[in-house]
Amino acid sequence: MQYGGDYNPEQWSEETWVEDARLMREAGVTLVTVNVFSWSVIQPAEGVFEWEWLDRVLENMHANGIDVDLATGTASPPPWLTEQYPGVLPQDENGVNLWPGSRQHYSPTSPDYRRLAATLVSALVERYARHPAVSMWHVNNELGCHVAYDYSDNARAAFAEWLEQKYTTIKALNTAWNTAFWSQRYTSFAQIIPPRKTPSFPNPGLVLDFKRFSSDALLDLFVMERDIVRASGATQPITTNLMGAFPGADYWSWAEEMDVVSNDAYPDPNDPEAFRSMAFSSDVMRGLKPDRPWLLMEQATNAVQWRPTNARKQPGVMSAWSMQSVSRGADGILFFQWRQSRAGAEKFHSAMLPHSGEKSRVFREISALGADLKVLPQMGTGSRARVGIVFDWDCLWAVEGPAMPVTLDYHAIVQRWHAALHRQHIGVDIVSARSDLSSYALVIAPLLYLVTDESAANLSNYVENGGHLLVSAFTDVVDETNTFRAGGYLQALGAVFGVAVEEYDALVLPGTGGPGYREASFTVDGTSIRGEYMVDELHPETAEVVAVFSDGPIKGSPALTANGFGSGVGYYIATIPDDAGMTSILAWAAERAGVGPELTGLPEVVEVSRRDEHLLLINHGSEAVSLIIPADASEAGKKEERLELSFQGWTWLHRP
Ligand code: GAL
Repeated sequence: MQYGGDYNPEQWSEETWVEDARLMREAGVTLVTVNVFSWSVIQPAEGVFEWEWLDRVLENMHANGIDVDLATGTASPPPWLTEQYPGVLPQDENGVNLWPGSRQHYSPTSPDYRRLAATLVSALVERYARHPAVSMWHVNNELGCHVAYDYSDNARAAFAEWLEQKYTTIKALNTAWNTAFWSQRYTSFAQIIPPRKTPSFPNPGLVLDFKRFSSDALLDLFVMERDIVRASGATQPITTNLMGAFPGADYWSWAEEMDVVSNDAYPDPNDPEAFRSMAFSSDVMRGLKPDRPWLLMEQATNAVQWRPTNARKQPGVMSAWSMQSVSRGADGILFFQWRQSRAGAEKFHSAMLPHSGEKSRVFREISALGADLKVLPQMGTGSRARVGIVFDWDCLWAVEGPAMPVTLDYHAIVQRWHAALHRQHIGVDIVSARSDLSSYALVIAPLLYLVTDESAANLSNYVENGGHLLVSAFTDVVDETNTFRAGGYLQALGAVFGVAVEEYDALVLPGTGGPGYREASFTVDGTSIRGEYMVDELHPETAEVVAVFSDGPIKGSPALTANGFGSGVGYYIATIPDDAGMTSILAWAAERAGVGPELTGLPEVVEVSRRDEHLLLINHGSEAVSLIIPADASEAGKKEERLELSFQGWTWLHRP
């Protein structure tokens, strides 16, 4: 179990480094990430490297028994670089430069940036590949965090090349994007421009491919640096810090290229449901490389500084959320950053060692957590859950594309389905529509708007072999090119659900005004469920109608259907339920699939998560709770036990 954080000693005198090492040892720190933003310190000019400073940092850590996750340092190009090569700057959709003065001001496809970054990484690994302090490599930092989409001429050239590789002929691209419409037919790849600001809606096919390209362009940077590190003979694992279900990059393809998945997670402590978003983010990480541990590379010890309101983490929250990550598969808990900055953009951002020093609440909590992590029970990498939720970046990009029937936030909606299981203490894995789903009793594929032939075959196969697949409105609408399949909607998965979709209708968006229907309700097993955002007009073919809409624009039309397909069942919900509705439908579907909670009778604010034979219970509520926990079935004669959990209190139970 690793413990530590980003360490930016370039901000401090070397006397302070001595104190840093002492306090790190006191807090139980085992691993620090160094050199993330040190490019201007180690390379003052092109062709000039000054390593002595970094040598001493690594020596200091090594002498104190602390390992280093050595960053390649490419995240923030120094001022000399952008002065000499202004063409490395990225551009926004108006074609305006994003200027130096903060960080991440590079175009991922700029040949100059790539060359200079590659030179830096080569020099770095040549010097440190075999350094005994270095236990891991950290490529760049949060690739795409500030600039997920670059619209510069670098991007234009690289996008054209990417498209040519994908489509081979311009004719194939014209067909895929239906450029016959609005006079958009191209006669060469060179004519294609990234989706910069246009008078009206840009072509949705172009927008979708640009998002795929942008994810690939960032990944290509990771791969370039990773290959340089590997080619140097370095044997340590190589990672880069991901950002949960970050909308700008298809992490399914990224994870394949990474040795270890690592995550940065900053849920808002002001949000009473933040612990559920944290759980979702962790489950995404575990899903990316199933059966392998991941690292929580960054989180805040207390407040951040980048929201309009930056609440602190109440006492205990930091520890509870950290333990939650361990229970969801993390083998390391790290923070941004070790020592709080005295100036600069993050001077109000919390750290492991705050301005108030070692006598502070935060440092006491940090030291206590370091000690708790040392005495954790021995744990494996975690077993698979019985329920899977599909997260699909192609769907996210397509569903949030231009000119749609209704504005939908894919990430938020998928996360709400996850929360609905979390509230019921049912364990869940995040999966891809292409994953092997055979171990899951129930799979939920929310807003599966875009379905490739490959995903459709995988999902059909899953149901045919006994799986229960639950989908909601707006499923299987378009193919991989964002085009309706011949015949209309639900053409790839129609047989699985045994219904035909005739029309979609948009409801007034939740939280907004205006005339029109706001909701569409239906009742399942005596519980009334409210649908929002949209309704699909379904016609049952082989499916059984479980419920019909009792109000809304298509009153009387099927709201929930169930269809036996092979030895499994396909469920179609013809709307997007609100939170309570998601919870009720999942309780109903889980029961039909034979899935139950990890423990019964727990309040919603008490979380339970399983890692192999260990269950973690956390009380996220604002008051202490007293729980009755059933006995461990493996220990004969043992009775149920009473468990008191204070606010943010947590405890591990052995439950094979
Ligand atoms: C992350 C970043 C860190 C730090 C942190 C502050 O996005 O990787 O360098 O800025 O946010 O919350």
